[in-house]
Amino acid sequence: MVLFFIIAFLCVSVFAAQYPSFGTVKTSTSNGVMHVVLNNTFSEINLLDAHLAFDLANLIARLQVNGTDSDIHVVVFSSANPHFFIAHSDINIFVNGFQGLEPLFDPFTPDMGFLDSLFWNITQLPQATIAIIEGRARAAGNEFLMACDMRFALSSPEVRLAQTEPSVGGNPGTGGGMYLSNLINRGRTFEYLLSATDIDADTAAQIGWVNRVFKTKNALYDYVDKLAKRIAIFPLAGIAGTKQGINAVSRPPRDVYIQDAQDVIVKLLIQSSLGQSLLKKVLKATNNQSIGAFELDWPNQVVQIYK
Ligand SMILES: *[C@@H]1O[C@H](CO)[C@@H](O)[C@H](O)[C@H]1NC(C)=O
Ligand SMILES: *[C@@H]1O[C@H](CO)[C@@H](O)[C@H](O)[C@H]1NC(C)=O
Ligand SMILES: *[C@@H]1O[C@H](CO)[C@@H](O)[C@H](O)[C@H]1NC(C)=O
Ligand SMILES: *[C@@H]1O[C@H](CO)[C@@H](O)[C@H](O)[C@H]1NC(C)=O
Repeated sequence: MVLFFIIAFLCVSVFAAQYPSFGTVKTSTSNGVMHVVLNNTFSEINLLDAHLAFDLANLIARLQVNGTDSDIHVVVFSSANPHFFIAHSDINIFVNGFQGLEPLFDPFTPDMGFLDSLFWNITQLPQATIAIIEGRARAAGNEFLMACDMRFALSSPEVRLAQTEPSVGGNPGTGGGMYLSNLINRGRTFEYLLSATDIDADTAAQIGWVNRVFKTKNALYDYVDKLAKRIAIFPLAGIAGTKQGINAVSRPPRDVYIQDAQDVIVKLLIQSSLGQSLLKKVLKATNNQSIGAFELDWPNQVVQIYK
């Protein structure tokens, strides 16, 4: 009997924390709202590297585990880094020969890239998900925002959103461009993605990239707090059901989503010598993804690697 409980406990623990933990996501919960602060202390730019990716995967598993019986009805993501919500994914994992912690593919859902699976799971959560944006979110950073149900931003020069992959010969993948074409329309998506330029918070709110923009941090947090608390009053089954319906018509189908990521990212970036040489130039120019002119101002800096 005791042995049974020990085994059951181990199973629950293993399920709750599938991956090693690095303490890069801080959570606090009250009244059915979980606040999640992304704080990647292994990176100056809140990089979506293995540390943050594993911590997020463990968190998402925890949020999934009780289905619509979860005590948590709303999840609010924000960042502890004043310059970056999430800079982008760890470019090292796309460069040949890097033996990183993070697998390229999800070991439990091997038809999906690890981050593709993580972001897909965010869209599948029964809970409503909200992102509070006070810093840059480019490439996988913006894809994370797209996977959330709602986005609210601070009107600040620190807020710059972009899909930068085309600037190194890749495509956004992970649904980045697909979700955007629903939010901001087809023509604007081509404009921003093909030119790999930043959008600022105010313009992002005007065209629907984010829901709303706020002049002050207080106004931003106050609005999101009230919205989250109100949503959290209502039964989770209704929240989950509403999300399922909206996802059915405005989320890319799973097979299309997978193909976008694998066909193009793998062929253009990982398996092409041009892709590899561009990524290596970016790693050099960013001083291996340290904070500096390139990471702060990617769209203007990246053209230098073509000179
Ligand atoms: C899931 O249910 C267990 C057992 O009732 C509970 O301890 C845990 O806090 C719940 N988790 C969530 C996210 O609701
Ligand atoms: C982020 O983590 C660092 C190191 O643990 C800590 O000093 C800092 O207070 C954290 N920031 C936030 C906003 O949680
Ligand atoms: C996403 O959820 C599925 C189903 O629970 C799981 O198999 C997969 O490993 C999860 N992906 C990640 C990256 O945690
Ligand atoms: C770049 O940083 C990663 C860890 O983020 C490290 O594993 C790798 O060795 C570094 N590369 C160089 C060339 O310094």
